[in-house]
Amino acid sequence: MGENLTIDSTAKCDVLVIGAGGAGLRAAAQIAEQRPDTKIIALTKVVSPQKSHTTTAQGGMAAVDPKDPEDIAIFHMFDTWKGSDCSADQNVIKKVCAMGWEEVVWLERHGMHFSRTEEGRIAKRPFGGHMLNFGETKAFRACYEATRTGKGIMDTVWNESLKYGVNFIAQCVATELLFDDDTCVGAIIFRYPEGKFLAILAKATIMATGGKTRMYLVSTNCRGNTGDGLALALNAGLPVMDLEGVQFHPTGIVGPGILASEALRGEGAILRNKDEEPFMERYAPTARDLAPRDLISRSIVTEIREGRGIFNKDHNAHHVWLDLRHLPKEVHEKKIQEIESFFRRFVGVDPETDLCPVTPTAHYQMGGIPTNEFGEVQRGPQAIVPGLFACGEAAAASLHGLNRLGTNSLLELITMGKVVGKRVIEYLKDAKEPEGLPSDAGHIVFDQFSTYLASQGNESFAQIRDTLRNLMMEKVGIFRTEKHLLEAQEKLKELKEKAKHIPIGTTSLKANQNLWQIWELNNLITVSVAITYGALARKESRGAHFREDYPERRDEFNYHTLVYMPEFDKTTLGKRPIDLSIFEAKGERFELFDYIERKY
Ligand code: FUM
Repeated sequence: MGENLTIDSTAKCDVLVIGAGGAGLRAAAQIAEQRPDTKIIALTKVVSPQKSHTTTAQGGMAAVDPKDPEDIAIFHMFDTWKGSDCSADQNVIKKVCAMGWEEVVWLERHGMHFSRTEEGRIAKRPFGGHMLNFGETKAFRACYEATRTGKGIMDTVWNESLKYGVNFIAQCVATELLFDDDTCVGAIIFRYPEGKFLAILAKATIMATGGKTRMYLVSTNCRGNTGDGLALALNAGLPVMDLEGVQFHPTGIVGPGILASEALRGEGAILRNKDEEPFMERYAPTARDLAPRDLISRSIVTEIREGRGIFNKDHNAHHVWLDLRHLPKEVHEKKIQEIESFFRRFVGVDPETDLCPVTPTAHYQMGGIPTNEFGEVQRGPQAIVPGLFACGEAAAASLHGLNRLGTNSLLELITMGKVVGKRVIEYLKDAKEPEGLPSDAGHIVFDQFSTYLASQGNESFAQIRDTLRNLMMEKVGIFRTEKHLLEAQEKLKELKEKAKHIPIGTTSLKANQNLWQIWELNNLITVSVAITYGALARKESRGAHFREDYPERRDEFNYHTLVYMPEFDKTTLGKRPIDLSIFEAKGERFELFDYIERKY
C-alpha cells in the first residue's frame, strides 16, 4: 500500500515544534531568546497560531506571588497534590509551583496585560481547590487578563516567536514521527491546502499538540482537538499515560458545552438545583462551589440523576442552574461581562436577572504523552526517547495526576514550555544533524492515507462521529462501570471498521476535506480506545476517574497507567510509579504529602 504517495520535499531545522499553541510557543520563545541562531519550525493545524485552543482559556493562571502576605508556594503544592487525589508527581508539582510567579513576570515583561488592582498590583481571583493554610479557606491565586487570559498568553508567546524569526507552517499536521534507531529525527507532515507531504528533519522535536476531548458530545474544546499528537505517539509505539483522567468542567453552557469560566464561581456565583437549593453545601461543606471540578461535576450529575435537574427541551438535555443574580453590578459590568454575554447569545438568558443553565462539559485531558520532569518523552518509566520532548496538554509530566485544579493548566503549559525549551538547548549542544531520511520514512502514514483514499461505501462520516461522541459521553464519561466500558470497546471497534467505508469522494490530496476528517476521526477512535483500556484497568475511583463498581480509592493503584497500542486495539499496559519526593524529603508538613484523605 501507499506506493503512489510520496514525500514531496525535505526540510531541515534544529528544532521542530509540533503544535504552535501556548506550550509549544513558550518553548520556542525560550530557545529563541537564549540561542537566537537556532532554526526553529513551528507547525499549526489551524490558519494562524492565534486560533490555537490556548486562546480560549478564560479564568486565569495560578501562581503564588512571593510578596503575598497570606499565600505561600507550599499551600499551592499541597492543593495540587490533594486536588490530584494523590496521583500527581511531586517532583513536578514542586518545580512548577515554585516557577509560577517568575513566569507571570516573564509574561508581563513581554507584553501581557494582566488585570490589576486599584493599588496597581496584579489582580488575583479564587478558583476551585486553591486554598490557604492547607485547605482552610479560599486563596486568591489565579492571575488573569480580564476573562481572556489565554488570549493574552498567546499574543505574548506568538509575538516573542515572531520577534526571533521562528518559521511557521500553518494548516498542516504531523502524520508520522521519524526515528534513526531510537532517536527522534523529526516528522513527516501533511500540508492541507497543497495536499503535499513534507519531511522535516530536526535535531530536536517538541510535541505540543494540545488536548483531545472532541470525542465527547459536550465539550469546551475547539473543533481541531482530535487527539492527533496522542495517536501519533501511539502509532510510533510510544505509550500514553493516565488517559482515563478526563476532566469534565462543571459549568458548560447547556447544549454544546461552551465554557462558562470557573471565574464566575470565583466571583461568587452559586450552583442551584431545580428547587433553587445551593446543593454544593451537601457535597463539599467547606469548599462548596469552589470545590475541585471532578467533585462538582459528579455532584451535578447526581442531582440530575436523582431528579433535581431541569430539562431543556431545545437541547434535549438536563442541567442545573448557575445563579449570578446576586452579584454586584460592578462585577457584572467590569469583571465577567464577556462570559455573561455567552449566556445572552447562546441561550438567551440575562445573568443579571435570570438563572443560567449549565451542565458538565468535557474540558481537559490530565494524561498524555509521558515525560520526565524535564519534558523528555519516555518510552517506559525510566527510558527516554532521545530528541523527543513534549509539553502542554499533550504531555503528562505529571502535574495533575488524575485531576487538575482550574488555572493549573495555563501555569503548566507556560512553565513546562520553558523547562522544555531549556532542556532542548542543553540537548542541542551534542545533538548530531540527522543524516537523512530514515529508510522506512512514510511506512505508517502512507499506509493510513492509502486506506483512507481507497475508502468506498455507504457509511456516513457525520453518523460515525456522532455515534462516537454519544458513546463516549454515555459510557466513558463522568461515571463509569466495567459493563459500560466493555460495551464502549466493542462499539469502538465497530466504528473503526465502519470508518473504512466512508466514501472519500475525490482522491485528490489537495484541500481534501473528507481525507482530513477521516484522518481526524481515526485519531479520535484510537485515543478513545486507549482511554477505555486505562479506565478498565483502574479498578478504583480517583480524581476524575470514577468507577461506580469500585467507588473507593485503593492503594494498590498508586501508580500511573501506561497504554501502548502500536496497532489498533493491540494493547499492552504498563505502570509508572508516582513520585513522592516532597513526602520523602521529610521537610515542612511532609505528612500532608502522603496518600491523604481527600475531603473539601
Ligand atoms: O474555568 C475556567 O476559566 C477554566 C480554567 C482552566 O481550565 O484552567
